[in-house]
Amino acid sequence: MDELLSKENLEYRKRAREVADTVVRKVSAHYDREQTYPWEVLEALKKAELTGVWIPEAYGGPGGGLLNLCIVVEELSKACGGVGVAYAVNALGSFPIITGGSEEQKQAWLPSIAKGEKLIAFGLSEKDAGSDAGSLACKAIRDGDHYVLNGEKKWNTNGGVAHYYTVYCQTQPDKGIRGISAIMVEKGTPGFTIPKVEDKMGIRCVPVVELKFEDARVPVANLIGKEGGGFRNAMSTLDLARPGVASQAVGLAAGATRLALEYAANRKQFGQAIVSFQAIQFMLADMDCQTEVARQMVYNAARIVDQATDNLRHPEAIANAGGPAGFSKYSAISKVFATDMAMKVTTDAVQIFGGNGYMKDFPIEKYMRDAKITQIYEGTNQIQRLVIGRAMLRELGNVEK
Ligand code: CAA
Repeated sequence: MDELLSKENLEYRKRAREVADTVVRKVSAHYDREQTYPWEVLEALKKAELTGVWIPEAYGGPGGGLLNLCIVVEELSKACGGVGVAYAVNALGSFPIITGGSEEQKQAWLPSIAKGEKLIAFGLSEKDAGSDAGSLACKAIRDGDHYVLNGEKKWNTNGGVAHYYTVYCQTQPDKGIRGISAIMVEKGTPGFTIPKVEDKMGIRCVPVVELKFEDARVPVANLIGKEGGGFRNAMSTLDLARPGVASQAVGLAAGATRLALEYAANRKQFGQAIVSFQAIQFMLADMDCQTEVARQMVYNAARIVDQATDNLRHPEAIANAGGPAGFSKYSAISKVFATDMAMKVTTDAVQIFGGNGYMKDFPIEKYMRDAKITQIYEGTNQIQRLVIGRAMLRELGNVEK
């Protein structure tokens, strides 16, 4: 299917594949075991000029847009799902600025992210506000030219290693969802701490932490967009970011299928390579089919955004993609299909490895562990189905009009 990719797409893929093959593959088991951040991978990504692919030229990036971001995430995830998200989460954290920040904020924050000098995290979820993202308890109360933040955030990916944190808080708690605002908090802000680093099933090379704010004072100048516009900002950010999770899933599935194919070609039982048994060949064929369908679905979702926004150079033009609600559906479809697919494909890959697949001596069980989170984060697949179902009902309304 290379024919449908541009020269630029292929060039990004080549560079990402090189980083994946020469650096990531060698260290993925180590960082999975140690549960520490793979700084050497970040250095390799910087050298390959792959950090901040999605950031427009005006803010120090190459203007690669969403499709090239997805292509890079897919290649990295073929080698390690943790590295895939460690990379993609910087897009999730910076989309709120790209879509909602002022020119001054974009100039101040995006160039160092584009260069990979600073990492960024996205702080939406709380202990009691996961799927119900509108019920936030974290507060930011205005005091002169500062907001005073109090509360906690949960499951913050990249937390601790990131310098910037896009944090969603209630600035007008009596207004519910319409009282939520997006605020940029920098590492080192007094009163901002990380009380817990989670011990995870998969994606173990990237930290997932709790954030705590105790009278943390943040300049009002760090408000992204309008006061009360935070929920919409978070939702449209997730619309843009979900194809990235989907491409992580595609990469995991493709990587696991390749390992299973190689294993089946070499593993002998009953006097022959197990790949010669139709039972195994059909499994591999199904794994490849499902991965390819998901891949095209992800590329399609990314192309809708890139075409409408000129590779995110004009993010306001996302409305041309059928409005936020219109694109939401394609983003959710790519996420739900690709991640459910990855769970099945990586589980089947473990099955092909048989007893060896269950052991940590072999690399395949990590793919299954890494795949599980893709069905959960950036909106559980139950929430994606809700987004798709609501969009279908809206479309029905449009048809009737
Ligand atoms: N774009 C723009 N605006 C949107 C929108 C979208 N996609 N979806 C909703 N909105 C707007 C609505 O128009 C509405 O605006 P008005 O009040 O002005 O009319 C407002 O937001 C409220 O919308 P809903 O009534 O639909 O809100 P809801 O409470 O029913 O919730 C939901 C909607 C889809 C369930 C939402 O809460 C949701 O997406 N939940 C999942 C949260 C999530 O994905 N969390 C992931 C955390 S990040 C993470 O996981 C990162 C990581 O670790 C790597």
